[in-house]
Amino acid sequence: MKLSIIAAIGSNNELGLNNDLIWHLPNDLKFFKNVTSGHTVLMGRNTFFSLPKILPNRTNIVITDIEEKYPSEVVIYNSIESFLNDYNNTNEEVFIIGGASIYKQFIDLADKLYLTEIEASCSEASVYFPLFNKDNYDKTIIGENCDNDIKYKHVLYKRRPTMNSQ
Ligand SMILES: NC(=O)c1ccc[n+]([C@@H]2O[C@H](COP(=O)([O-])OP(=O)(O)OC[C@H]3O[C@@H](n4cnc5c(N)ncnc54)[C@H](OP(=O)(O)O)[C@@H]3O)[C@@H](O)[C@H]2O)c1
Repeated sequence: MKLSIIAAIGSNNELGLNNDLIWHLPNDLKFFKNVTSGHTVLMGRNTFFSLPKILPNRTNIVITDIEEKYPSEVVIYNSIESFLNDYNNTNEEVFIIGGASIYKQFIDLADKLYLTEIEASCSEASVYFPLFNKDNYDKTIIGENCDNDIKYKHVLYKRRPTMNSQ
C-alpha cells in the first residue's frame, strides 16, 4: 500500500472551523477530485459527516469508535491498526483526507503529502495540520491558482528515502 496525505492549509496550517472548511476554492476541489478519483480515501468520523455526500468513484473508509448506521458502501474501521492490517499488503494508493486528528496519526506513515498551500490565514480556525519536518521531503510545486481572490499553490512533498531504506 502507498499512503498519501492530501490537505488544504492556510499560512498558519489552518484546516477547518466548526467542522467545515475555511475557504471555498472550487478549483482546489477539482484538483482533489482529479488526484483521488479511482483510489481509496480514508477519513475520520467528523470529516465524513462534514461532506455533502459520499465521495463518488472512490472507496470511502471512515475511522470511528462509535457504532452507528452508515451507507452500505462506506467501509468502517474502529482503529488505524485494523485498517493497516487489511491494507498493508495491497497495491492500493490510499489517500488520507483528514481531518486534523487523522492527519496527525498518519503524518509519519505517509510518503507523499499533497498540500494546497493557501495564501490566507484565519485566527478563528479550530483545527490545524500537524507540524512536519520539511527537511525530510523533496518539494515540488505542481501548480498555482487563484479562486475568489485567494491565491494558493499545489505542492507535493515526497519523503526522502532514509539511510535504512536505501
Ligand atoms: N482543509 C482540509 O484539507 C481538510 C480536510 C479534511 C477535514 N478538514 C476539516 O477538519 C475538521 C475535522 O477534523 P477533526 O480532527 O475534528 O476530525 P476527524 O479527524 O475528521 O475525525 C475525528 C474522529 O475520527 C475518529 N477517530 C480518529 N482517530 C481514531 C482512531 N485512532 N480510532 C478510532 N476512531 C478514530 C473519532 O471518531 P469517534 O468519535 O467516532 O470515535 C474522532 O472523533 C473539519 O473542520 C473539517 O472541515 C479540513
